[in-house]
Amino acid sequence: MQRGAGSLDRLEIRTETLPPLIAGQARVRVRAIGLNFADVFACLGLYSATPQGDFIPGLEFAGEIEAIHETTGGGKKSGLKKGDRVMGLIRFGAYATHLNADVRYLYTIPKEWSFEEGAAFLAQGLTAQYAIAHLGHVQRGETVLVQSAAGGVGLLSLFILKSIGARVIAVVGNSEKAQYLSDTFKIPPTDIVIRNPRTFARAIRSSAPDGVDVVLDAVYGKYFKPQYNLLRAGGRYVLFGAADLMPSGTSVNYAALGIKYFSRPRLDPLTMISDNKSLLAFNLIWLWDRIAFLRSMFDDMMKLPWKGQPPAVGRVFSFEETREAMRFFQSGKSTGKVVIKP
Ligand SMILES: NC(=O)c1ccc[n+]([C@@H]2O[C@H](COP(=O)([O-])OP(=O)(O)OC[C@H]3O[C@@H](n4cnc5c(N)ncnc54)[C@H](OP(=O)(O)O)[C@@H]3O)[C@@H](O)[C@H]2O)c1
Repeated sequence: MQRGAGSLDRLEIRTETLPPLIAGQARVRVRAIGLNFADVFACLGLYSATPQGDFIPGLEFAGEIEAIHETTGGGKKSGLKKGDRVMGLIRFGAYATHLNADVRYLYTIPKEWSFEEGAAFLAQGLTAQYAIAHLGHVQRGETVLVQSAAGGVGLLSLFILKSIGARVIAVVGNSEKAQYLSDTFKIPPTDIVIRNPRTFARAIRSSAPDGVDVVLDAVYGKYFKPQYNLLRAGGRYVLFGAADLMPSGTSVNYAALGIKYFSRPRLDPLTMISDNKSLLAFNLIWLWDRIAFLRSMFDDMMKLPWKGQPPAVGRVFSFEETREAMRFFQSGKSTGKVVIKP
């Protein structure tokens, strides 16, 4: 439970009784909680979709169905039944041992996957799929620059791009992540860039001298313009976050954030016409009500060869270590998904 947004120090464990199930709901015993960058922004008070007052953070989880409302149907109507292993999305409330879930946002976990892997898939996978297939419209043979390529969205993006047959220029924050990418995805070292603000423009240009077709970026800040400049004519820039604005403390230094915010890079749409480049931006949470669309993206992702290669889980924390898990996420050192086990 977060006692109002503003500081990670306001996170605490509380015991509460869940209300009875209503039609359309199933009770899930949560086995793993997937952390998202949005959780940290929400707790710090920097995420516009955050509920007012006290709230339970968390957008995704995996667990077992303990009970299902009788009108929702054990199996027939919802396709789900008691005992099923599911992964789910929830608009806040995943940081819990049990929760009442809307069955329309529950998906069966592939049987080869663990609960941790199930909790590592939906939010970041749907983000990657929407960015690549729907906005970036990436085609076989195109070159795509992926920022934070060793992160949750980043690794799932690499997987999707590999299955499309795109070439990837991967950008990461440190050499351990670069090594991880060349070991696991066999990306040639020349196609991996370690982010350094002073040499960044030169480094990406030397990896992609002919430019790139698509940029997938959730870092923004000083890397935005060099990446925009790297796009070829006809290129698409998909922007879906601003990790560069992430405060490093447990609460927000508004003076430092204000300086970054007011000096942020901007684009003139008229220049974009003559550049022949597009900027596309989104936040998955505003697609929340498009349930059939979310499921169709999920179905498309499940047609990819995930089998044997489930989403990468990085560090796993206990429920009592939730604040440490968020601090670790905030540090920018994570590779793969950060998971909490209640
Ligand atoms: N719009 C949407 O719907 C949507 C949905 C999900 C996620 N996102 C965004 O996508 C991005 C990735 O999300 P994720 O959950 O998969 O996280 P993640 O990539 O696993 O972790 C975040 C990564 O951001 C990078 N980073 C860059 N600057 C940073 C900074 N100042 N502080 C901390 N980290 C920094 C770090 O990697 P490197 O240093 O290696 O780059 C860090 O590992 C986030 O920006 C998130 O907000 C957007």
